[in-house]
Amino acid sequence: MCGIVGYIGTRDAGPILMDCLKRLEYRGYDSAGVGVIQEDRLELRRSAGKIAELERVLGQRPVRGRAGIAHTRWATHGRPSAANAHPHSDCASSVAVVHNGIIENHRPLRRALESQGHRFGSQTDTEVIPHLIESRQGEIETATQEAVRELEGDYALGIISRRDPGKLVAVRSGGPPLIVGFAPDGLFLTSDASAILPYTREVLSLEEGEMAVLSGEGVRLATFDGRTVDRSPTRVPWDAETAQKGGFPHFMLKEIWEQPRAIRDTCGGRADLEAGEVRLADLGLEAGALARVRRIVLVACGTSWHASLVGKHVLESLCRVPVEVDVASEYRYRPPIVDPETLTVAISQSGETADTLGAVRESRSRGSKVVAVCNVVGSSLARESDGVLYTHAGPEIGVASTKAFTSQLAALDLLAIHLGRARGTLSPDSARALLRELADIPRLAGDLLGRADALLEIGSTLRTSASVLYLGRGIQYPLALEGALKLKEISYIHAEGYPAGEMKHGPIALIDRTVPVVAIAPQGRLYEKTLSNVEEVKARDGRVIAIASEDDREIAGKADHVFRLPRTSELLLPILTALPLQLLAYHAAVLRGCDVDQPRNLAKSVTVE
Ligand code: G6P
Repeated sequence: MCGIVGYIGTRDAGPILMDCLKRLEYRGYDSAGVGVIQEDRLELRRSAGKIAELERVLGQRPVRGRAGIAHTRWATHGRPSAANAHPHSDCASSVAVVHNGIIENHRPLRRALESQGHRFGSQTDTEVIPHLIESRQGEIETATQEAVRELEGDYALGIISRRDPGKLVAVRSGGPPLIVGFAPDGLFLTSDASAILPYTREVLSLEEGEMAVLSGEGVRLATFDGRTVDRSPTRVPWDAETAQKGGFPHFMLKEIWEQPRAIRDTCGGRADLEAGEVRLADLGLEAGALARVRRIVLVACGTSWHASLVGKHVLESLCRVPVEVDVASEYRYRPPIVDPETLTVAISQSGETADTLGAVRESRSRGSKVVAVCNVVGSSLARESDGVLYTHAGPEIGVASTKAFTSQLAALDLLAIHLGRARGTLSPDSARALLRELADIPRLAGDLLGRADALLEIGSTLRTSASVLYLGRGIQYPLALEGALKLKEISYIHAEGYPAGEMKHGPIALIDRTVPVVAIAPQGRLYEKTLSNVEEVKARDGRVIAIASEDDREIAGKADHVFRLPRTSELLLPILTALPLQLLAYHAAVLRGCDVDQPRNLAKSVTVE
């Protein structure tokens, strides 16, 4: 998804902006650009494709200046091209704008501006903004303030202008995040703190409806209607090193291997094994309020939605309360049945997903309390919720989510145990036993990864498949969905996740020797039933890859390949099941020569609808 960086200070802006821009590559984009105030001119360089292409353009026509903005664009309005790449400018080349989000009323604005004689050079919604600013007099911040009054939609903007070469203006309205960074030799602007971490960890997030003017005199923060805002910067808990690859060929592989640590950090300090209690300091809801909850709604998108589906099983088992799970983009427009006795739990790695934020606003407007399960401290979701349960996965750079997912599962286990205790549906002994098993999951995950070489060979058998079917039952069904999603996201092989019992109602028609079936079949309540489904596949010449328990003797005779999972509680096992599924997808994708960290058409965090 689009990324913004900006710099104003005593150093040459060009190389700093390019360095920061590269740190945003992981988010997914299809064109890029940079704009700098050079003496009394505005110099823009833009290109379609990767940042390396923009670097080539800059090599031929370098820029120099002490204030600039840059952008990675993920096409929404208009195809990926140099003309549609940001920054966008006005007729007189006096103002340059980078933009994340969508201007909903860009069509009427464009028509009005064109009738006043403005000429447009792109198909984007963004380009109306520099033209609107151009048509206003006065200092850049005043002109901007007036211009944004015309805009409808969600947007984060970075603006520079020849009128005021010593200023960089930042504007935030609605979803997309925007952060100011304070470094000794300059001020930064970014939509993602990890872009500026080598320069500073001191940051200030703009709230919705705020505008900041960055200049040699510091940062002036105000609301759109001109009220001064006084807020202190906070410190980002990650350093630049944490956000790099650390010797692994891909971020995704590094992040898969980080899972034992991520799960340990997510549970660390929260589980009180002696008391059989979970301490969740930022939950924002007292035990009494939790006991009164009559219904829980989980909302999320993508991989986080799969975590929610697992969460439903755990919450219903331990808390005996009805749980509904909804894809956030569906939930927000239904209209949902929610009241003050409903607890909404919103799950999002980034905390910036527009649909999830929309769902949270919908719930809150109907009186529901909202708890966020989120990986980014201070994200929009964390700020807009009544309470937060942070996962401590660390920055996740690979677009396909791995360690954020398993940390979400661990966080939901903690939440369920906490709620079960508060509601009296879980005894201290049962809570203690589960917490002990949860505390052991990082060790089991580490052992499993130590045996992961076998998955390279199994993954290579998927490489040439046109389609793969993933089957699971009960709490493992969402893992079938997640396994299939991982494979399609990064290898572009078509894959479907199905509840194994549903296979006979349709997907069985697909089975032949060319369609591999990944069967998630650990021992447990539904083992025998899943095994019958595996036999149905074999009876039709299907190839079976089984993810099974370590001491299962039967499965070897029924599957072509078996990868074994250690034993743990059925409720916690999905955390371990996720690992081989992630690695199968990873190896298949690498063997196919795919860009696993930045798959085509995907974005790490989708901040528009
Ligand atoms: C995008 C990413 C997915 C992610 C989803 C939800 O589609 O590519 O990997 O699962 O957004 O993101 P969130 O940050 O809300 O968990």
